[in-house]
Amino acid sequence: MLSNQAGDGKRTSLHGHWSSKMAFILAVTGSAVGLGNIWKFPYVAGENGGGAFVLVYLACVIAIGMPVMMSEILIGRRGRRNPVSTMELLGKEEGSSKNWRYVGMLGVIAGVFILSYYSVIAGWTLSYIVKSATGTFVGATATQVVADHEAFKLNVGMMSFVHTLFMSLTVFVVARGVERGLEQAVRFMVPALLTMMIVLLGYSITSGSFGAGVEFLFTPDFSKLTWGSVLEAMGQAFFTLSIGMGAIMAYGAYLPEETSITGASATVVAADTSIAILAGLVIFPLVFANGLQPDAGPGLVFQTLPLALGQMPGGAFFSTIFFILLSFAAWTSAIGLMEPAVAWLVEHYERTRAQAALIIGGTIWLLGFGSVFSWNIWKDKTFFQGTVFDNLDFLTNQIMLPTGGLFIAVFAGWVMCRNSTADELGGAGLSYKAWRFGARVIAPIGIAIVLFFAIKNVV
Ligand code: PFF
Repeated sequence: MLSNQAGDGKRTSLHGHWSSKMAFILAVTGSAVGLGNIWKFPYVAGENGGGAFVLVYLACVIAIGMPVMMSEILIGRRGRRNPVSTMELLGKEEGSSKNWRYVGMLGVIAGVFILSYYSVIAGWTLSYIVKSATGTFVGATATQVVADHEAFKLNVGMMSFVHTLFMSLTVFVVARGVERGLEQAVRFMVPALLTMMIVLLGYSITSGSFGAGVEFLFTPDFSKLTWGSVLEAMGQAFFTLSIGMGAIMAYGAYLPEETSITGASATVVAADTSIAILAGLVIFPLVFANGLQPDAGPGLVFQTLPLALGQMPGGAFFSTIFFILLSFAAWTSAIGLMEPAVAWLVEHYERTRAQAALIIGGTIWLLGFGSVFSWNIWKDKTFFQGTVFDNLDFLTNQIMLPTGGLFIAVFAGWVMCRNSTADELGGAGLSYKAWRFGARVIAPIGIAIVLFFAIKNVV
């Protein structure tokens, strides 16, 4: 095991540090903003009836997501190691048990599982760059765009190829390390994506059924809400913020001492939530204007946007730019998904970053074929929640991330002593008290209740 205890007693990270506070915020935002906001949020909101789901999602982001994110960052910065070793170290240091490392392990596994299907969908976005650029969608009708998407999903060779390409790109950045790889990739993507979403919003306001879209997203109909959809909303809050699996903990390990954890978390949560809501505001008006189905599932964004953009002047260009940015967003998130596993392998087994990235990346790549086949050759081989993809999605988002988040909140709120957490969060003022109440009470109880009732209904 490598040691990271500096002479003055303060720990330093073995993987380098962020060059500035802004770099950290950008990296965490880059990890948070991804397919979860633009691909997943609209389709799960659509499948769960809109308004009421969105309200529960927002409540989870604020009441559970925010304290869990702050807990992860503070744990990460205090331990300054990979999530497994950090939980083990702090567990012992705080007089509890080294078994807290299993929470880190759960996160490492969740990251591997999530990335295995995330990479497949990210591969779709890569394909859609080429489709857009070659004018596939120019002047296409809704039926044509939907048929094209259906045919695409049946193309095993193409899906395998783009999944492989995406994993190679991810391994490449992760192998290059924190400073050189992550920061550069994120620095321009977040502002560019935000700008693009605003341009698309302008189009959606002028050409879509904007009123119908807004009504769908913001008028809650609580009769549509089940424990299952509440769990899905909570899972989505975890997924979109990248919390509950140690990714943010791993990033926190590279955070300089003086950075405010509360400020950084608030910025990330605000940016991530705005992009998801923007995506909803872009997509649903277009869905209703074009007679598409809001509950079309994972294909929603791949049908709605190409169709709308194909009808707009300069559409091929905008559509190409949109899918390039979405691929970038997926890429910076994928890096976060691999980080806990890679950091763990580097520290625990003394591998180089490049070796670790290759080993973990290779495993994820292989696992990914379960999801590639979920849309074609194994389409009808369904069990429990559905295809391999459906099961991985359910297991990770709705079970592993909330469970991880529950333990992280309990650890930071109950196991760590007040001095340690106040030290990391910069004193015991009002925001500290709010965090502590969230981590000790709201997050654990909220997560436990939702998990309990949802699992009771599912099983
Ligand atoms: N937050 C990412 C998204 O919304 O696409 C997904 C994700 C990235 C989850 C990194 C977890 C993670 F560690």
